[in-house]
Amino acid sequence: MQEPSANQIIRIFDTTLRDGEQSPGATLRPEQKIVIARQLAKLGIDVIEPGFAISSPGEFAAVQQISRELQGVEIAGFARAIRGDIDAAVKATMDAPRRRLHLFISSSDIHLDFQLKKSREQVVSIAREMVAYGKQFVDEIEFSPMDSSRAGREFVIEMVEAVIAEGATIINLPDTLGFALPEEYGAMFRDVRAGARGAERVQFSAHCHNDLGLAVANSLAAISAGATQIEVTVNGIGERAGNCSLEELVMAIETRKSAIGAETGIVASEIYETSRMVSRAMNFPIAYNKPIVGRNAFQHESGIHQDGLLKNRNTYEIMDPEAMGIPRSMIVLGKHSGRHAIKHRLAAFGIELNEEQMKDVYDRFKAKADELKIVPDDVLVRLASETTEQQHDPYVLVDLQVLAGTQRARIASVTIRERESQEERTFAGTGTGPLEAVIHCLQQAIPVGAAFEDLELHSLSTGEDARGEASVSIVHRQQRYSGTAVHKDIILASAQAYVAACNQLILSTGGNNGETDIAAKSS
Ligand code: KIV
Ligand code: ZN
Repeated sequence: MQEPSANQIIRIFDTTLRDGEQSPGATLRPEQKIVIARQLAKLGIDVIEPGFAISSPGEFAAVQQISRELQGVEIAGFARAIRGDIDAAVKATMDAPRRRLHLFISSSDIHLDFQLKKSREQVVSIAREMVAYGKQFVDEIEFSPMDSSRAGREFVIEMVEAVIAEGATIINLPDTLGFALPEEYGAMFRDVRAGARGAERVQFSAHCHNDLGLAVANSLAAISAGATQIEVTVNGIGERAGNCSLEELVMAIETRKSAIGAETGIVASEIYETSRMVSRAMNFPIAYNKPIVGRNAFQHESGIHQDGLLKNRNTYEIMDPEAMGIPRSMIVLGKHSGRHAIKHRLAAFGIELNEEQMKDVYDRFKAKADELKIVPDDVLVRLASETTEQQHDPYVLVDLQVLAGTQRARIASVTIRERESQEERTFAGTGTGPLEAVIHCLQQAIPVGAAFEDLELHSLSTGEDARGEASVSIVHRQQRYSGTAVHKDIILASAQAYVAACNQLILSTGGNNGETDIAAKSS
């Protein structure tokens, strides 16, 4: 028999599709919301808040479809303490086997005086009345006194007591402006739990914004003060500086489980996929240094760290990125990297160099690192090829030409040299944009049968001689392969990055993906 866990189970309430979508510019189409909701269910989210049903017909339809389709997850219908909002939320979530109503009204004096223009008595009376109204339709009622961390403590307690008396079952105490400090936020939970009659009958939930970068710390403080539900968004997206980040909170709990005394039901291996999906759908790039899902979160450039990592991962890593579905490329090669790391990376491509060759590659690597900052794999392999006078990459991009204009389809031609035969072939393609035309050429030239997943472009400097960094990812049999390249010409950088990703795939499958022969069709 399995030992029962001594840890408190924390329920994860995801509001990416409601509060997260309030992030400037992050609006989603209803069909995108449905795809994300499916992924949230796969991730093991306990409660999904799919949107604000009253706000538009499209939003209503999305909440309704998610409620119909996701039969295993609890759905929260979001509403102001207004009858029309409650009616819409009740109707849109009607077909969810498990649902709750999430009602809110402001609680701070500044909101009451300037926004609602109502007295405390009036607000408590509305809250009571609307909880009682919602309770006729739905058993589970979550109530949020908005801006509770800036409201008078006695008033929050009075409001919470009133809504519990009307049947509220979950009390969420939002730090709407991200103003609270962890000690203060924890103290509020302690005070309200101790001071509000009926508090022992309900669950407590935290909802933190990140204006001071404290959303995760505040949520953890709420857990130590008795909260059993935390509201989060994927990538921490949301109004202004965002909400408590799902991946950061979940991994803090997972990594420091015994210190925190809590655990969640989140499927860690789905974290990366979910993060990328949300970032792409919302057109919201993730900061390189964002914990867990940022590009640099598990990359090490310093020679000392790389040396330690190659001996034992735990020397400089507290989490295993692969457990979160993050492809492992822990070592990023730059000017701080040592010979050991370069040798290790070349070995991953089956390249072994003697001492003299290694010295030559290392010297040229250092010069390249000064120029490029980060030396991508394809550049390193090219340096090795120059030293050994032998082509190591399965495919090399020899030439690229693009004809772009405004009237007709863009036309491209690409010449590729294959390692085994040393044969050069040229392929032509068209597209609605120059990049599409180039990718069509490359898909013929390197028929690896992978789907083109993503292209990210970043400018590495400013001014006329700015260089662009292109990162391309392709997916083959559910594995992701990526390549990076830097050039002043961003179309060329993108093409080189695509070729590098294909080479990665071929080298890591030992050319055994069954589809790597050069296409017979060449111009
Ligand atoms: O930040 C906030 O106060 C909210 C509530 C409405 C829950 O999003
Ligand atoms: Zn919020």
